Amino acid sequence: MQKMLETLEKLQNEAISEIESVDTIDGLESWRIAYLGSKGRLKGVMPLMKDVSREEKPAVGKRLNEVKKALEGAFETRKNGLSFVATSRPPLDITETGDPTALGRRHVISRTIDEITQVFSRMGFSVAYGPEVEDEYHNFNALNIPDDHPARDPIDNFFVDGGRMLRSQTSTVQIRVMEAVEPPVKIIAIGRVYRPDTHDATHFSMFHQCEGLFVAPKVSMVDLKSTLFQFAKAYFGEEAEVRFRPSFFPFTEPSAEVDMKMKIKGKWQWVEIGGCGLVDPDVFDQVGYDNEKWQGFAFGLGIERIAMLKYGIQDIRWLFENDARFLRQF
Ligand code: DAH
Repeated sequence: MQKMLETLEKLQNEAISEIESVDTIDGLESWRIAYLGSKGRLKGVMPLMKDVSREEKPAVGKRLNEVKKALEGAFETRKNGLSFVATSRPPLDITETGDPTALGRRHVISRTIDEITQVFSRMGFSVAYGPEVEDEYHNFNALNIPDDHPARDPIDNFFVDGGRMLRSQTSTVQIRVMEAVEPPVKIIAIGRVYRPDTHDATHFSMFHQCEGLFVAPKVSMVDLKSTLFQFAKAYFGEEAEVRFRPSFFPFTEPSAEVDMKMKIKGKWQWVEIGGCGLVDPDVFDQVGYDNEKWQGFAFGLGIERIAMLKYGIQDIRWLFENDARFLRQF
């Protein structure tokens, strides 16, 4: 047994010291064949086993295994070291600049929505949401738009199965909020609306609106106009102004078109950006608000309109083509 152990010891020492001076892949392969190969030195020790007594065989066998493991381990380590050298340059050059990571950015419409939300939040409005797939009741009837109203023509709306439709206005959210909570109410609702318009520089079949609704014991056109006036100044600058033009919406009485005076290419100009009015008492009846006790104003503004004016964008289609060269300007 002693002889066998000594032989193994010697073999291991020689193998390890030899592998340290191996410096090519070929040299390493020769080393492997010499020590671990089927006719290698480790195998060559095997015949000595027959001289080992039965009782001592397990201990020797264990030692044999250890040496084999040590040699295999040394082989792997050296192999890794050599392939490292073989690339002839460091595998990781920390001075390389590398490929730049492309930084994304928020879409100009998302940004506009955030900005508008911030301004109205400062005035005490909270944010409400409603579904984009709506029923006709919330999109029309509850807003005083009866079954035979021309605005309900299938050619002007995206109807889907089951008497539902893609909402054509965010005014739907006025109804949903009033159904859900008791007055007073002070909310804005920003979201997508859909109309089958032919796409051109100012029309797109999907766009965004900002709806506002304020319900309190006493609300007048003055409250409405001063709220929109505050918004215009906060958003477009101190010199911005608001003007109302008489109009008609089925769910407000009186109703007005909202124009804002803003700076476009250095010149102050009036631009139409939405509609507004005092909530029609019939709408309060629909949602079960006592119209003797409560009054309200509402408005709806076009987000794309606002963004296009603020950032000088001439064609609404550019907003939705996902062309990064255009979008990264904002
Ligand atoms: N929903 C209207 C539209 O899409 C805009 C509007 C007008 C909203 C008057 C209102 C409002 O809340 O009071 O054309």
